[in-house]
Amino acid sequence: MRAGWYDRPGPASEVITVGQMSSPAPNPGEVLVRVHASGINPSDYKRRGNTKAALEFPRIIPHSDGSGVVAALGAGVQGLREGDRVWVYNAQWRRPFGTAAEFVSLPARQVKLLPGNVNFVEGACLGIPAMTGFRAVQLCGPMRGRTVYIPGATGRVGAYALQFAKLAGARVIVSTGSGSSSAEELKALGADTVLDRNNPDLETALMSAAGRSGVDAIIDVNLAQNIDMDERVIAENGVIVSFGAASRPSLRISLSGRRARNISFHFVFVYLLTPEQAVSVCESITDAVSSSEIRHRIARTFPLDELARAHDFAEHSSAKGHVVIEI
Ligand SMILES: NC(=O)c1ccc[n+]([C@@H]2O[C@H](COP(=O)([O-])OP(=O)(O)OC[C@H]3O[C@@H](n4cnc5c(N)ncnc54)[C@H](OP(=O)(O)O)[C@@H]3O)[C@@H](O)[C@H]2O)c1
Repeated sequence: MRAGWYDRPGPASEVITVGQMSSPAPNPGEVLVRVHASGINPSDYKRRGNTKAALEFPRIIPHSDGSGVVAALGAGVQGLREGDRVWVYNAQWRRPFGTAAEFVSLPARQVKLLPGNVNFVEGACLGIPAMTGFRAVQLCGPMRGRTVYIPGATGRVGAYALQFAKLAGARVIVSTGSGSSSAEELKALGADTVLDRNNPDLETALMSAAGRSGVDAIIDVNLAQNIDMDERVIAENGVIVSFGAASRPSLRISLSGRRARNISFHFVFVYLLTPEQAVSVCESITDAVSSSEIRHRIARTFPLDELARAHDFAEHSSAKGHVVIEI
């Protein structure tokens, strides 16, 4: 099969090769998927670029997310058939061979039916970004009639969180640091209020949008940077959910104020959802994308032969949205 891989960490243009490898065969309990689209996430290029850590495996085919068609079933797999359109997740989590290849063989629980109204490129975004966004909203608790603040809503995860929070009945306030075109896009995605993250008085603007008691929930892409304001704008009994890789490795929280107001914190690491949590998140996402107008924001697609360029683009360009390899 044709695949992209690296055998050492480093810059994409120096370490990524695209060539021929032998195709995997499905072990018992696995599903062989003919991959049509493979999504790139920050974790993919951060792992590939991290020269401080040894590679987990001698050779890595990157990317955890993807979509395609079931090509063969390992012994004992039920509920899927050859030819089914599917999306997959965690393909390169604690496993060497991800989705940047014509074929990937995965445990059946990581292979989900792709709704007919979602194309393969869009299906390759449902793993890390949509699952993280959905899980973050789930952790906020019942959303109907509540107000949630999502900084970073122009991001891959944030845009899904915004749309899932709206679907759950929340009033959604977002902020963006990237100007009026992003603000327009966020309104089109359903945001009730869009604030300017560069406004020196963001806090006043947020409190005025939220109402006197503050916001009921915050889904934060960069908690270490935003914690001070988050603690001031969160309402009593509020929930703060952090999913972004921290700009600083630790943060200070005001224990007395937090305890007195009954505030809770949750941290999401999507790769480590329990099997039950993953089933609930995946089923809810499949329902949401098949029955609602969820938008998948594709920044750019690349052919597999341009995998190194695609990694560079995902890592360094300021384009918003998903970068997807078509295979
Ligand atoms: N925990 C997990 O399981 C998990 C899963 C997926 C991703 N992540 C991590 O989450 C982060 C975001 O991923 P992504 O794919 O959504 O990235 P992304 O598409 O690059 O989006 C991040 C967005 O956050 C905004 N932003 C940047 N700094 C901010 C700040 N200090 N406060 C508020 N907003 C800020 C930017 O938008 P504006 O300029 O428009 O404001 C940016 O577009 C990455 O660090 C990624 O590694 C974690």
